[in-house]
Parts: sequence; structure tokens; C-alpha cells
Amino acid sequence: MNFKDLRINGQRLKSTIEELAKIGGTPGGGMHRLSLTDADKKARDLLVQWMREIQLEISIDEMGNIFGKKRGGKDDLPLVLSGSHLDTQPFGGRFDGILGVTGALEALRVLRENRMETRRTVAMVNWTDEEGTRFAPAMLGSGVWTGKFDRDWAYSRPDVQGIKFGEELERIGYRGQAPARNWPVHAYFEYHIEQGPVLEKIGKRIGVPKGILGIIWYDVWVEGKANQAGPTPMDARNDALVAAAEMVLKLNKLPGKMGGDMVTTVGEIHNSPNSRNIIPDRVRFTVDIRSWDDGLKKKAAEELEKEFAGISRRRGCPVRMEVIWDIPHTVFDPNLAQRVEKTARQLGYSGHSMVSGAGHDAAYVNQVAPTAMIFVPSMGGRSHVEVENTSWEDCEAGANVLLHCLLRSANE
Ligand code: GLV
Ligand code: MN
Ligand code: MN
Repeated sequence: MNFKDLRINGQRLKSTIEELAKIGGTPGGGMHRLSLTDADKKARDLLVQWMREIQLEISIDEMGNIFGKKRGGKDDLPLVLSGSHLDTQPFGGRFDGILGVTGALEALRVLRENRMETRRTVAMVNWTDEEGTRFAPAMLGSGVWTGKFDRDWAYSRPDVQGIKFGEELERIGYRGQAPARNWPVHAYFEYHIEQGPVLEKIGKRIGVPKGILGIIWYDVWVEGKANQAGPTPMDARNDALVAAAEMVLKLNKLPGKMGGDMVTTVGEIHNSPNSRNIIPDRVRFTVDIRSWDDGLKKKAAEELEKEFAGISRRRGCPVRMEVIWDIPHTVFDPNLAQRVEKTARQLGYSGHSMVSGAGHDAAYVNQVAPTAMIFVPSMGGRSHVEVENTSWEDCEAGANVLLHCLLRSANE
């Protein structure tokens, strides 16, 4: 068969995604498969089994990133890589990350069954802890691999129960031998759902991101004075939760205040001791600020720190803010993005240039290798939720674009 006539097997891609959705699947049709949990281990085991079935050369690095290579004729040349992540949000969806891993697997299955040889090695990857929900920050696996985070610092990151990333990696048996250090990559393609409303709204099938918004994450601790809810007068309180509530509203108003494109979110909050008749004395919450404009993001963060300090003073509730992640906006390789756009057109799919609001491992890989992404529509623009959905036709279309982008780059 000619390279150009190759197509992925849409039915097989669908059943692969459906098999994975059984591991950590929720009654609401979503996924709850946080990083380095038993469910993550089971999903990894299944992936490794599938990778073995097509004779990929598998290596697992010391961050638990799983790589599978199909050697090319000139395997001393920098290889072509594609993948994403199998970990999910709590009560998240079946496609986020999973489509990119299964799409790459499907492309490699097609190459194997058609006995297609490429000039360069083609490899796939499952990155560890992309979501950053259980172990923050996000993208620890690709972050260490690209030299942005220190490995031992990553190992020391705790979950809410104080269990360390490194301990859990060891426990599930995925602390591999290979050094978590990047090697020369000729091209990296990450196939993903859009996670937003744009493609569906304009009726286009393939999104071609030119980059990703910059992101800053804070952990915030607010301290108050616990006391009896009944006898304590309103003017004699240092209520940590009320101070935090004011802070949450301040953050919500920040994009409007700063002007320009920006989104802000508090998605996680822990209140202590969390009893209806005790004035709370300890609150921890998260802050997520995103913008394409790194300067605006920096100014917004400074403004926020000032505002929070003011609230803290007024309410007599000490606040501590820690920046746990700060990643500038990403600009993908224009030539590879053009390859995605052109490939989509040649395959008869409509394309659209856009920006990704969601973070991806591609942001880190982009810092060490030419990188591009391929997006397909998210139904109703919903993601990180159980109803996250993408039509099987769109899943198939995006995987065909991925297959042909990989082939083009691998034969350069
Ligand atoms: C990753 O899922 C993100 O937070 O965008
Ligand atoms: Mn993702
Ligand atoms: Mn996600």
C-alpha cells in the first residue's frame, strides 16, 4: 500500500478508548483515574500490553513516562514522537489525554500491520501526571523529562494526604530505570480534544493550535481563629473561610480589572476543621490564572498578591501564597503547525487556526523539540467533566491527520 492511502481503523480506536474507559470509569459515564492510583496502574498495564502486541520497544523512565518505539531505517536520526496522558481529572472525561495516547497507538498499529517502514523511528509516549490534580503542578512527567523540574523535587510533591509522588510511583511499579532526560526529537505531535467550544461553534473538524496560554498556579493558605459559632460575636471573629471567600471573589473579578484576555479560577478549596458550628481557622485553596500575554499575567499576579494581603490585614487572617507553577505562553513550531493544517486539508477535513486555553505536555516538549498539536471538537465545549464527548468520526479524522503528520516527519 502507498503511504498516502493509509488510514487508521476508527472502529479499533473507538474500542481501545472504550476499554480504557472501563478503568476508573464513573457511573455518570466519565473517568476518575488520578495519577499514580491503582486505576492509573491498571490503565498503564493495559497500554503496555497493547504496545507489546505490536512489538514496540518499550522503555519506562524514572518518572514513569512510558515510551514505545518502532524503529526506522535510520534509527540514529532524531525520532518522531507522539502521545499525551492517561491520567484524568476527578469525575473527568473519557477523551482528555486518552485520545492522544490511543491515537498514537492506533497510528503505530497501522504502520505495523501494513509493514510500513519509515526513515526515522516513530515513538509514542504516555506522560505521567499531566493533570496535576493529585500531585501539583501539572505535567510533572514531561516537565522533568525536558529538564524544567528537578526529579527529586517531583518525587517530593505531596497529595492532599501527604503521600509523596515518588512513593506512589514506586508502589504502582512504574518507577523505571531509564533516565528522565530528553533525547533529540525531530518532531512531537500531540493529538487532543479541543476542550472548548470553538470548533463545534464554527463547524470545523481539525483545530490547529498556534500555541497555549501561559499559566500561573498558586497554593494559598489562610489562617483564622477557631471558635464556637454561637457565643462568638460577629465583630470578634477571624474567620479564615470568610477571608478566603473574599479572595475568591477578588480573583474572579481580576480579568475584568486587568483588561485583555485572561481567565482565573479557584477550583480546589479545603476548609478546616469543617464543622458547621466552628468558625474555620484554616483554609487552603488554589489559584489558576491564564493568559496569552505573559506581561499581563505577571501584573495580574502582583495585583492579586496585593489584594489578598489587604483582605488578610482587614480580617486579621494571615495569608501565605506560594507560586507552585509558572509557565509562559507557548508558541508551537510554525512549520509543524502548517503541516497539521495542510495534512488536514489534503485528507478533506476543514481546519482552523486557534489558541489552546488548556495546558498540555506539548508546552514542555516544545521547549526542547519542534512541536505541534492536533485538535478535534468537544461536544458542547465541555471538558474535565463526565459528559466530555467527541464524535467517533472526529476522533477518527484527527487520528488520520496524526498518522499522516507522523509519516511525513518520519520520512524526512
Ligand atoms: C490541563 O488539563 C489544564 O489544566 O489545562
Ligand atoms: Mn489533557
Ligand atoms: Mn486535562
